[in-house]
Amino acid sequence: MSFIWDKSYNIGISEIDNQHEHFVNMLNRMQEAYKDTLPSSPSDEVKMKVYLDILNLRKYALNHFSMEEKYMVNSKYPKFFDHKKQHDAFIRKVLDLEDELLESQGVSPQNLISFMLSWFEGHIQKVDKDFGIYYKVMAGGKT
Ligand SMILES: [Fe+2]
Repeated sequence: MSFIWDKSYNIGISEIDNQHEHFVNMLNRMQEAYKDTLPSSPSDEVKMKVYLDILNLRKYALNHFSMEEKYMVNSKYPKFFDHKKQHDAFIRKVLDLEDELLESQGVSPQNLISFMLSWFEGHIQKVDKDFGIYYKVMAGGKT
């Protein structure tokens, strides 16, 4: 399933929304790139590409989370620590995937894609949106 960025995905803070859109674009690109790859037996070439995608995702996540967290700290978001825990868990999972790939090469692109899809649905579309609502009230509608 590939999807086009929709305004309804926005949390209302343009800097954050632009990066979330980038996340969805990465996800779409991966879905397209690996659509013919069987989950059970990815080739070495595919595993190397997946490794680069994981590195890319780690870089994105570190940069994106620190930016998002700055908005939370600056607006004294009361759920900051719970939210940050989810960010940290995401980074740990990315590092785990990287380790698994390096040690046993047991990571298929489908693992990575389903992890990203569940993050989009469970985090970006839920807890990030909660923060967007809070921020809008705190900032008086200015973002
Ligand atoms: Fe977040």
